[in-house]
Amino acid sequence: MRLPKPSASKALLANFDAAAFLAEDWQRQPRLIRQGLPEFECPIDGNDLAGLACEEDIDSRLIIQQGDQWHLESGPFAEDRFASLPVSQWTLLVQAVDAFIPEVADLNRFFRFLPRWRQQDIMVSYTAPGGNVGPHFDQYDVFLIQGSGQRRWQIGQRCDTTTALRNNPQLQLMADFQCQQEFLLGPGDILYIPPGCAHWGIAESPDCITLSVGFRAPAVDDMLQDLGQFVGEQSVSPARYTDPLIKPTTHWGEISDAALAQAHQLLSAAVNDPRQLSHWFGQLMTHRAAPAFPGELDATQFSAALADHAVFLALGARLAFRGTDLFADGEMYQLGEVHADALASFCRLEPGDIISPNTLPHDILFQLYQRGTLTCALDDE
Ligand code: SIN
Ligand code: CO
Repeated sequence: MRLPKPSASKALLANFDAAAFLAEDWQRQPRLIRQGLPEFECPIDGNDLAGLACEEDIDSRLIIQQGDQWHLESGPFAEDRFASLPVSQWTLLVQAVDAFIPEVADLNRFFRFLPRWRQQDIMVSYTAPGGNVGPHFDQYDVFLIQGSGQRRWQIGQRCDTTTALRNNPQLQLMADFQCQQEFLLGPGDILYIPPGCAHWGIAESPDCITLSVGFRAPAVDDMLQDLGQFVGEQSVSPARYTDPLIKPTTHWGEISDAALAQAHQLLSAAVNDPRQLSHWFGQLMTHRAAPAFPGELDATQFSAALADHAVFLALGARLAFRGTDLFADGEMYQLGEVHADALASFCRLEPGDIISPNTLPHDILFQLYQRGTLTCALDDE
């Protein structure tokens, strides 16, 4: 049986021991990976980033510091906005740049020591000298790759929901940042910051670019809401509330412990199906961070194209598998176990991988193509 080739060469960060990092630092403490990407050439410049920030479907922000205050402007921006910015103390940030620029997406492979479905997106910032987004903490893990220029990062205290914030609801900045460590980053240096760890990065040169490889960590509140909707849509449980064994009421309006336990038991039973939970979680964790572009070939054209054109994972696509289930961009596909595993780690399929009838089912490849998870080399011609 022919299988898709594993994704592009397994890339390793330099000066980095993934097993030691996961055992000691991951989700615990910041870690500097000095020259993790030696001789790094930044895959994007300020002009590219400004171009993306003018696009309708792309999430972008400008943060400008004036004295002790930070101001937020949300994109998309008119082209001439960039000409009227001050010479210093501003930052342009663009989310999910890996969904638009292949060379930025390519950086994701350096983080293959973590599950693919944990990756959220790569945000890129361009910072004028002195620019920064203010002292803050994030709710998720992030690797800050210095793309170009120099940036001084200060690491502060551990934060949580009780941490005092400044009176600026748009920007969740800290009222009292206590610097505990400091690192000056140059191109190819990487700084890992765990969730809840205060940080503050100030550009010390022109053309300072930071690429933030961010990981997804849905809030339990959001997971509950999503699970409720998923379970409701599957209508797995026709059960309704029924009374436990009851006695005649003495307090007419009272909700008894037994009634509450009954409601709890019914709800637990409704979500206590491991298969359903797996389907829900796989779909939740593979939602895209940026919109997909559905393929335009019809089924016949697509099948013909498979004979002599490569297919690729589309930029921004998100994949995972569990057993025989493949999850892609928030959808589930049932495959054989080997195929689900192989497809969930692929980047590119050559015609030789897919023409033999006992390889990948063409109908599933076509669905993936139609939904924009796959693209075909023919589309680019
Ligand atoms: C930035 O790139 O300017 C901000 C990144 C961060 O602090 O998370
Ligand atoms: Co941050």
